[in-house]
Amino acid sequence: MTSRVPALDLDRILFDPATKVIITCGSGGVGKTTTAAALALRAAEYGRRTAVLTIDPAKRLAQSMGLTALDNTPRRVDIGDAAAEDGGELWAMMLDTRRTFDEMVLAHSTPERAEAIFANPFYRTISSSFSGTQEYMAMEKLGRLAATGEWDLIVVDTPPSRSALDFLDAPQRLASFLDGRVIRMLTTPGRGVMKIVGAGLNLFSKAVTTIIGGQLLNDAAQFVQLFEDMFGGFRARAEATYTLLRAPGTQFLVVATCEADAVREASYFADRLQEEQMPLAGLVLNRTHPPLADLSGGVAETAAARLAGTSPLASAVLAVHAERMTVHAVEQRMRSRIVRAHPTLPIAAVPALAADAHDLESLREIGRRLTDQ
Ligand SMILES: Nc1ncnc2c1ncn2[C@@H]1O[C@H](COP(=O)(O)OP(=O)(O)O)[C@@H](O)[C@H]1O
Ligand SMILES: [Mg+2]
Repeated sequence: MTSRVPALDLDRILFDPATKVIITCGSGGVGKTTTAAALALRAAEYGRRTAVLTIDPAKRLAQSMGLTALDNTPRRVDIGDAAAEDGGELWAMMLDTRRTFDEMVLAHSTPERAEAIFANPFYRTISSSFSGTQEYMAMEKLGRLAATGEWDLIVVDTPPSRSALDFLDAPQRLASFLDGRVIRMLTTPGRGVMKIVGAGLNLFSKAVTTIIGGQLLNDAAQFVQLFEDMFGGFRARAEATYTLLRAPGTQFLVVATCEADAVREASYFADRLQEEQMPLAGLVLNRTHPPLADLSGGVAETAAARLAGTSPLASAVLAVHAERMTVHAVEQRMRSRIVRAHPTLPIAAVPALAADAHDLESLREIGRRLTDQ
């Protein structure tokens, strides 16, 4: 069964100069951020000038990469003098959603208009709490980083979004929710701003629940007016980013652990990516527990029981092995589940480290495990 599944050759992808963008996605807690950081570090050490865009990294991981300030620009990570081949550099950043939105507004308007927009309560709500904003801003930031041409490779982590759809739909969703035509239609005489609200346009109805008071109408009218001029620019940018996502230099990686929920989400992600014709490189099955010895669980269990009186240490080791084999068997079932659903999807299995991956050395180790298939 295992031999028919193609192995995921991540070194080939990482070191190929044609690979410009790698995006990790999957449900929360499976290792997206860790995988993104580990791959970025490996590419940097290979000699590529690499940036990693992380979303909500674990605090200790952020610290070990020198990400102490959330300033929304990539910072050079000290990966050690000897570690990197010539030209190899690692740059890392944490996404600041609100700031990215502000930067987008600044890029498409005059300073005075930007100021008025920032002060508008509709903007404040949308830029910080509208669902899908974080997903969209991750893509916006990717688009911006890619446009600078400064990096050979950009590795992008995605938000710990419950709904896989949020992320995949975000570029299109924002392109349409910021679409000037929609707004123009709604603001033409005879329709008015209250109609927008009444029409239940997601954006506004969400905002309305958090904005109460007589200012509502004025603020909404001002918001629409101020934003109108920027829609063209936003839309063009959203479309450029969406094109980048589909480009041959982009590779998506779905990350999962061998747990029912994560596997179900991963399967769904893989389906969606394939449906949307996004370049899906493969699946990372993280934190697996492969057998440590060539001995069946049943045999180990029997032997453990037999040796319990005479050789407690040997018995304990055998019992640990038996338990690990049980875990392994469950993981294999999960793995076959996803293989049945996606028989041609290349897989890289990454054994669990003994401890969390919160420093460069453990990221290196994850990088080795990711590429040792
Ligand atoms: N292969 C692994 N072995 C051990 N710990 C891991 C491994 N992969 C990830 N972790 C740990 O699991 C936790 C969740 O990983 P993280 O990358 O933050 O997940 P996500 O970004 O998908 O939410 C972190 O504490 C990380 O250090
Ligand atoms: Mg994460």
